[in-house]
Amino acid sequence: MDRRAGLKGSICVPGDKSIAHRALFFAAQAYGATLIIGLPEGSDVNASLNAIEKLGAKVSLSVGEDGIVSAMVEGWGIDGPKLQMPEDVHTVDCGNSGTTARFILGMLSGYPIKISLDGDSSLKSRPMRRLLDPLCSMGLSCSSCTWPIEICGVERLKPITVELPVASAQMKTALLFAALRASGTSRIVEPAASRDHTERLAEAFDIKLVKLSDENGFEITGPQAPCAPCDPIVIPGDFSSAAFWIAAALCIPESDLTIEGVGLNPTRLGFVKALQAMGANVSAECIDDGVSEPYGRIRAAYTERVRPCETPANESATFIDEVPLLAIMCARATGDSLIRNIGELQLKECDRLAAVIDMLSQCGINARVIENEDGSLDLAICGKTQFKVPDGIKVSAYRDHRIAMAWAVLSAACHVQIRLDAGDIDSISISYPGFLDEFSHRLGYAPIVRVE
Ligand code: S3P
Repeated sequence: MDRRAGLKGSICVPGDKSIAHRALFFAAQAYGATLIIGLPEGSDVNASLNAIEKLGAKVSLSVGEDGIVSAMVEGWGIDGPKLQMPEDVHTVDCGNSGTTARFILGMLSGYPIKISLDGDSSLKSRPMRRLLDPLCSMGLSCSSCTWPIEICGVERLKPITVELPVASAQMKTALLFAALRASGTSRIVEPAASRDHTERLAEAFDIKLVKLSDENGFEITGPQAPCAPCDPIVIPGDFSSAAFWIAAALCIPESDLTIEGVGLNPTRLGFVKALQAMGANVSAECIDDGVSEPYGRIRAAYTERVRPCETPANESATFIDEVPLLAIMCARATGDSLIRNIGELQLKECDRLAAVIDMLSQCGINARVIENEDGSLDLAICGKTQFKVPDGIKVSAYRDHRIAMAWAVLSAACHVQIRLDAGDIDSISISYPGFLDEFSHRLGYAPIVRVE
């Protein structure tokens, strides 16, 4: 078994999870039917699909010969969500999906229905208050500030002017959904730019919003209802899924890998920018840069030595989901790296900041959190060219899909095999169900062994 064979050729990754959630939520609220092509199959997006179906959107799924999944979604338009048996207490299960949870809160704020929202243990520990506070000031009632939660919206919400405490595309989107159902103009501002898929899709669904020229944000006047676009929404490959292949190709000798058809939205490309600043052999080529979502190909090739990096504090939202991989790259750079303003990582599917520090400490890399005067958190990593994860070691991914996949990359980069329990391995199907099989197949060995 050659554990050092490089990753070669080209691959495609599943459709973008962030765009898929948004496309489903816009389509559910729209007049008319929307065709969405390229839905990813992970359980996160399924949570949104099941939620909108339960609320009365009609969804029909089909799978093409090429395996591409499409959904035709007939929205509820002016009728609003229709629960099948209104006398029942309706529960929508958001599973592990923070995106589904936040979007549903924003969307249902503007409808006078009572609903219970549930989810798994990770969702129960995630912060909702900072979103519920503005939504309640618009008119939503809620039974608590953590999951599970019972909510009741109102027919017409009050508009809101809000400055988000952190750059968060989920909060921004949830508030936009609520603002659609408000009477008057809402103004939503973030301290730094986060992914702008919502703004781009709003345009496709004929929603009028005015981007602010001097701040990160927009104004939107309600009430407005989305209108199903004539053209299908085509979802490009998920950059955050491609990132695992990029990092692996950079770390494994003789690799030269191209990822085709991947989303290249500039608000998602902070990882590529940081890697290029580190001297990594990675490039992105845009094939279509239209108003909707730009996409193209990314090529990554083995890079023996990389420089340490310091990422700008106001750009952390552009690579927040890629921090575990950026941390692995920093571990390989001789010298001190600083990944700035990433406190939000503590609030993801697990405390990813702690999980990353744990991961690096297992291979003797010193990583620590630095707290700044303004309360923001940086991750300092003291890298070295030679390090190794002990072969056969059993580790924990804290049931977090991105941590589990990062472990696969680290294990492959060190040419070893590590052990993860079944729950950690199964968590990968939240965003990228086929990852481990394809990764093992292309590597020629399994970097992760499942222990029951
Ligand atoms: C997402 C936004 C980010 C990201 C998450 C998906 C989205 O979360 O970490 O994986 O689709 O809007 P926050 O908005 O909480 O930063």
